[in-house]
Amino acid sequence: MTSQTSPFAPRSLGTPAEVSAPPSASDTAATAPAASLPAISARGLTLTLGSRAAPVDILKGIDLDIARGEVVALLGPSGSGKSSLMAVLSGLERASGGDLTVAGQDFTHLDEDGLAQARRGRIGIVLQAFHLLPTMTATENVATPMELAGSADTAARARAELEAVGLGHRVDHYPTQLSGGEQQRVAIARAIAPRPDLIFADEPTGNLDVQTGKEIVELLFARRAETGATLLIITHDRALAEKCERVLTMADGRIVSDRPGEDQARNDQDHNDQDREAQAGAAS
Ligand SMILES: Nc1ncnc2c1ncn2[C@@H]1O[C@H](COP(=O)(O)OP(=O)(O)OP(=O)(O)O)[C@@H](O)[C@H]1O
Ligand SMILES: [Mg+2]
Repeated sequence: MTSQTSPFAPRSLGTPAEVSAPPSASDTAATAPAASLPAISARGLTLTLGSRAAPVDILKGIDLDIARGEVVALLGPSGSGKSSLMAVLSGLERASGGDLTVAGQDFTHLDEDGLAQARRGRIGIVLQAFHLLPTMTATENVATPMELAGSADTAARARAELEAVGLGHRVDHYPTQLSGGEQQRVAIARAIAPRPDLIFADEPTGNLDVQTGKEIVELLFARRAETGATLLIITHDRALAEKCERVLTMADGRIVSDRPGEDQARNDQDHNDQDREAQAGAAS
């Protein structure tokens, strides 16, 4: 997200606490997605920001389907529109044009309140700038989205999530008392704590050393495997991208490449080889 560095008006991000807040019981009953629907379906999405005098076309027609449970990497040079696309797909930003359905909900026609409600509990977001609440400790930051929905044991759950990201010894620290990488891990814990259907992570390893980055990615992948969540990761890390099932590349506001991750393709090839060998064995 570039709202902090942009010379233009900042985007409306919702409050940090509700970025991944869980649903209330009534939200869930009214809008639970049907199992067969794709997680994300976008047609001709555009985003134009800036002033009327100097509009900037940021997304220039995005067509994209992401299946439920798919693990997708989003690559592309700086300024190509990755964070902007994530903001639109996650409902933090309204598209300027096109159609967007997320988890069965038509995002195109929802206003800001509607989008905030649609996000709650179903969409976990790790922003490029972490947006932690400065007056709250790490535990309180992670617990708040769960508390908003009246979940029980939120402090204990928050501490367990912080432990999982290696911050068991920093649970009572305020964001200013945490390093950049530690703040990033709090943001990740906050996003995954409510067990959302969709997890969006904008360069989740950007501030982490190689080993911690690896552990955080493993945690994200493990959480996805556990819950069947759809995972979209923006990254500049090629090795991480190739671990994903699918790799999208953006350039100048468009998706210019859409292919399987190399590790995934290799696994598929290995399985095909094994199937062929098994069939050949059975035939002989
Ligand atoms: N509020 C805004 N108003 C006008 N232009 C904006 C605004 N926010 C972002 N932009 C522009 O949109 C383009 C895409 O920005 P975006 O943050 O999506 O890029 P990115 O691919 O995530 O880049 P990075 O890898 O550096 O994070 C940039 O050229 C940026 O300057
Ligand atoms: Mg970005």
